[in-house]
Amino acid sequence: MSERVKYLLGEDRIPKAWYNLVADLPKPPPPPLHPATGKPIGPDDLAPIFPQAVIAQEVSTERWIEIPEPVREIYKLWRPSPLIRARGLEKALDTPAKIFFKYEGVSPAGSHKPNTSVAQAFYNKEEGVKRLATETGAGQWGSSLAFAGSLFGLEVEVYMVKVSYGQKPYRRALMETYGARCIASPSPLTAAGRAILEKSPDSSGSLGIAISEAVEVAAGRDDTKYALGSVLNHVLLHQTVIGEEAMLQMADAGVDPDVVIGCAGGGSNFAGIAFPYIREKLAGRSHARIVAVEPTSCPTMTQGRYAYDYGDTGHLTPLVKMHTLGASFVPPGFHAGGLRYHGMAPLVSHVLELGLIEPRAYAQTACFEAAVQLARTEGIVPAPESSHAVRAAIDEALRCKAEGKSETILFCLSGHGHFDMQAYTDYFAGKLKDVPFDRAALDRALLELPVVDEN
Ligand SMILES: Cc1ncc(COP(=O)(O)O)c(C=O)c1O
Repeated sequence: MSERVKYLLGEDRIPKAWYNLVADLPKPPPPPLHPATGKPIGPDDLAPIFPQAVIAQEVSTERWIEIPEPVREIYKLWRPSPLIRARGLEKALDTPAKIFFKYEGVSPAGSHKPNTSVAQAFYNKEEGVKRLATETGAGQWGSSLAFAGSLFGLEVEVYMVKVSYGQKPYRRALMETYGARCIASPSPLTAAGRAILEKSPDSSGSLGIAISEAVEVAAGRDDTKYALGSVLNHVLLHQTVIGEEAMLQMADAGVDPDVVIGCAGGGSNFAGIAFPYIREKLAGRSHARIVAVEPTSCPTMTQGRYAYDYGDTGHLTPLVKMHTLGASFVPPGFHAGGLRYHGMAPLVSHVLELGLIEPRAYAQTACFEAAVQLARTEGIVPAPESSHAVRAAIDEALRCKAEGKSETILFCLSGHGHFDMQAYTDYFAGKLKDVPFDRAALDRALLELPVVDEN
């Protein structure tokens, strides 16, 4: 009998609502604080940079939030995304485990990021905004917002972390093809960028710096708002379509996962696949272990401190409680640019503190090795970020082999690596090094954490 590989859903099964984990948590997450007063922020504090609908979602405790029809219409361009049984990988590993992956690389920009960029562009357009400013690491988020902006007729300005700007000229070209303007960060265009350049003219940039630049631009212009590609509650919310669809597809396959895995930079694709399963766990309907994978070069969850910190280097954002390496920490320039963020989503940090998820860190060469194995067995060349999830899935499958267990593993393959081939070339040439982070720099950055009275 032929063996089934793909689990596809019709367009009518695109979820009608996003799932908000906050509604089901045993303990509410700590509130974001105003950077000047140290008091919980209110919607008015966010109004200069976000549209009202997004602010309402950021603070919502409703379990389900309806996906607007125009957003679902655009989702149809690539959603529901396929769930694939990785039979080739299973055979190569000779594992009794069943490996499934939810493939988000089928979106126009090549990753999960359009799940939220389309929603954010829609709400901004509805409220009369003309321009969006944002940051990007590897360029996946920048191209996703550029794509969404082009559909809604919004101008998009993207501050791209300088090291990635140099490494990924074709991501830049893609943003420009969608009509966006892409600027290397730190840039001389903003006060935040100029301050960094003055201190470190050769700064390779970081997501924290690029966020400061984009927020400054949005706060300074009436026609411009800011859009963030990860970290915040509303972004994680929009990504839950991944897990909701996966659950339907896993049911079609007649299996329930024992392990659910996602890579975590700011935490959004991980939350997308994981939060619906955390709901099921909390309700006693799932026993899955849930694993969040980060790079050893930017080990927020495994080496960071759970503390209030700024979301950006220039201290323009609210203080949020999260696992952080310190807002001034600049991770080494390794290839998974989308994982080079000093913090972790407050909601992901909160569920980590509650013991609902397991963090894990891998070095980049081990991830590239896994990525190549996936490419040669399943045909998909993963984004360097996604390769962290692939590494964890392979290691779980090898554990199953060693223990003689036929567990079911589900991972999110958050994007393809077609614009990351230089990284693969470097890997094959033996040029890719496992750059350890600078422990002294981390200690210094942690010393700079703001002092917050949490009582
Ligand atoms: C393909 C891909 N996966 C994962 C990430 C990490 O982001 P997040 O943790 O928000 O999913 C990025 C970020 O740019 C990305 O491009």
